[in-house]
Amino acid sequence: MMNICVVGAGYVGLTTSAALAEFGHDVQCVDIEQSKIEMLNQGLIPIYEPGLEELIQRNVQNGNLHFSFDVNEGIKNNQIILIAVGTPPKEDGSSDLGYVHNVLELILSTIQDYKIVITKSTVPPGTNEWIHQRFLDEGIDEKLFDIVSNPEFLREGAALWDIFHPNKIVFGTKTKRPIKVLKKLYQRGRTPLIFTSLTGAEMIKYASNAFLATKISFANETARICDAYNVEYPDVAQGLGTDPRIGRDFLNAGLGFGGSCLPKDLRSLKYSAQRKNVDTRLLDAVLEINNSQVDLYLRKLNTFLPDLTDKKITVWGVTFKPNTDDLRFSPAIALINELINKGAHVHTYDPVVQLQLPGICCHADQYESVTDSDALIIATEWEQFHNSNWAEVKSGMSGSIILDARNCLEAEIIRKNGLIYLGVGKQ
Ligand SMILES: NC(=O)c1ccc[n+]([C@@H]2O[C@H](COP(=O)([O-])OP(=O)(O)OC[C@H]3O[C@@H](n4cnc5c(N)ncnc54)[C@H](O)[C@@H]3O)[C@@H](O)[C@H]2O)c1
Repeated sequence: MMNICVVGAGYVGLTTSAALAEFGHDVQCVDIEQSKIEMLNQGLIPIYEPGLEELIQRNVQNGNLHFSFDVNEGIKNNQIILIAVGTPPKEDGSSDLGYVHNVLELILSTIQDYKIVITKSTVPPGTNEWIHQRFLDEGIDEKLFDIVSNPEFLREGAALWDIFHPNKIVFGTKTKRPIKVLKKLYQRGRTPLIFTSLTGAEMIKYASNAFLATKISFANETARICDAYNVEYPDVAQGLGTDPRIGRDFLNAGLGFGGSCLPKDLRSLKYSAQRKNVDTRLLDAVLEINNSQVDLYLRKLNTFLPDLTDKKITVWGVTFKPNTDDLRFSPAIALINELINKGAHVHTYDPVVQLQLPGICCHADQYESVTDSDALIIATEWEQFHNSNWAEVKSGMSGSIILDARNCLEAEIIRKNGLIYLGVGKQ
């Protein structure tokens, strides 16, 4: 059992805290956002993540998990400090490391005994080396600290599954000293542990996200070509995906990738590469394809509705993917903004988020949201949309266009209900 302070109670910090507590460690999860900590101390979970509430409640009850907004105390009282604060993108694409720096300054101002400082936040190549140097520059004896880079690979919406069944655990270290402790941190079963340098671990995280994003843009470009030749892209994806060298994951065509990780990490990697004069033609193309997906789907819609002025358009799904409440860089929101710009009246429904945006009308009921709509767009592939009552949808709408921007519906069922099915690479 280890004493661990997790700094940051966001998507990563909360799930990691709960999992570490479940492994039997004594975990103090701290956050500067007082309201978040107050909610957690009342047994309320500030984010939507399947299974998290029960896991947190169990570990709070058995005494393994504590929440506090006294970040200083959390850092002082624990030997292992796990940094899980945000690293949002700056205007120029680089990562804003301000939150990480604030945590480091607190550690530097309180450190008296040996600490292992683990960076779980996604930080650009070279950051953990810089952190190590920062400690030395402050005159902290090398015997008093180890810096570890331990990037996180969990997917929102499946975070607990990923944290309990990781396909790898990556540790970047400067010396061998913390390795014994790190091996006991997670309950790993047969999960391979990958030990590398501090910067090597950072690069594994960025390269993973860049590759996943590349698969999505590849899928989207291939779907465009399929569309031009009246080919079913889902068949092509299946054919591609059965090849173990390729794999089926991340080959779905649709509105493109969003969320708090892929777009930001790609831009940050691009920025880091360019700082060292490394050309990033592939990353540029991946981002360019992704950025044009909303426009591609709007052009599809325009084939039936050339002028969107005063048209009522309903959008189902506003989060960046299903099973999360995360709206950060959601392609659905980009689509909604474009629809508003084109003069449409936008109505939305989402299973977990009541979207508050100027100029839109948000509904709590899926079927009520389509009343008198000219078109319905599926922007996030929530499971419940697959099995919608299309007869009810048809009778509520005034138009009959269903734009499947996630390739998640059965076109035949839509048509059988007298509706028009529109997709890219799906007839
Ligand atoms: N969300 C994901 O799916 C995911 C997956 C892998 C990696 N990551 C990376 O993990 C990091 C965290 O992401 P997230 O989505 O959990 O972010 P988040 O925004 O949900 O949570 C960050 C939390 O840190 C808190 N915080 C900021 N400064 C603090 C300080 N000085 N002391 C204490 N708390 C502080 C914030 O109040 C917030 O609650 C990012 O670097 C992200 O790129 C995220």
